[in-house]
Amino acid sequence: MALVTMRQLLDEAANGGYGVGAFNVNNLEQVQAIMEAARETGSPVIIQASRGARKYSGDRFLYHLMEAATEVYPEISVALHQDHGNSPETCKSAIDLGFTSVMMDGSLMDDGKTPADFEYNVNVTREVVEMAHASGVTVEGELGTLGGIEDEVGSGEVNLTDPDQAVEFVERTEVDALAVAIGTSHGAYKFTKEPDREVLAMDIIEEINERLPTTHLVMHGSSSVPKELVDIINEYGGDIQPTWGVPVREIQEGIKHGVRKINVDTDLRLAATGAIRKAFAEDPSEFDPRYYLKPARAAMQEVVKARMEAFGQAGHAKDYDPISLPDMAVRYKEQGHQLTVT
Ligand code: G3H
Ligand code: 13P
Ligand code: ZN
Repeated sequence: MALVTMRQLLDEAANGGYGVGAFNVNNLEQVQAIMEAARETGSPVIIQASRGARKYSGDRFLYHLMEAATEVYPEISVALHQDHGNSPETCKSAIDLGFTSVMMDGSLMDDGKTPADFEYNVNVTREVVEMAHASGVTVEGELGTLGGIEDEVGSGEVNLTDPDQAVEFVERTEVDALAVAIGTSHGAYKFTKEPDREVLAMDIIEEINERLPTTHLVMHGSSSVPKELVDIINEYGGDIQPTWGVPVREIQEGIKHGVRKINVDTDLRLAATGAIRKAFAEDPSEFDPRYYLKPARAAMQEVVKARMEAFGQAGHAKDYDPISLPDMAVRYKEQGHQLTVT
């Protein structure tokens, strides 16, 4: 069993100077693709489930898929994370289910749509930190809002993170990791041209990292939306309009400045959809789902592998033994959130 807390995984990443991809899962093929890529590259990994994913797969199925993953890949350190928790109740249910990390996204109200004010965000995040740390579970907060809407989640409105507020937010909430808004959005349509530093505010990351050097920074909406993957979808009957994602080299710059967790969902969706469209077009007489799900899984694995190599997590799977949740709870109690787990 190699289930680790995200705090340990990110502390180790900070120590080693690399980033860790957090990939979204909804089903068996995604879990398998990510774990195979982790094995192939020897990478620790974060697997995350949104509220929509938990609804789609059902908590018990998701739990057992994760249990199977840790059983089949015992050499891989894997953190199981609630993506965009909308309330303390959602975070609590994730902890009860066995997640080792939760995101309390108090940048939005609990409808997951309406931008929230700073005080609301601090209060709700602090509440989750107290509950989660008592069980050794890691907490990610978010300050500022991303653009884009996924599965009816998100306000669509961008509010870049203010570095002064970030300092106050981390001091008052004691979160382990902070998601920052730097101009990215969820989904495939992030930028209408190759992003420069005008639209992708990497300087915010640099400033926050200087002022909060021990807080792990998180980049959401970090799919790169590779043209090759979009082209495959369009070649086989899809309709994805011209669009740009976050260039991998910018993520690598972020990693030099405290970014430790990089959220990627859309790139796997694009890879799977392209492979399935291609399989359908190549043999319209096929109707065995394995015929198209196998190439979809392989295409997702390829993307994940490339990101693991680019983020630098490759080769670090066996660097450390997992600290148990009860032991982490004791550390939080004795040392507060400034503890170091390396
Ligand atoms: O938060 C964004 C992730 O891509 C999850 O998306 O809410 O459609 O599952 P989702
Ligand atoms: P993408 O839509 O860019 O993959 O972002 C995913 C994400 O941030 C999940 O929380
Ligand atoms: Zn996100």
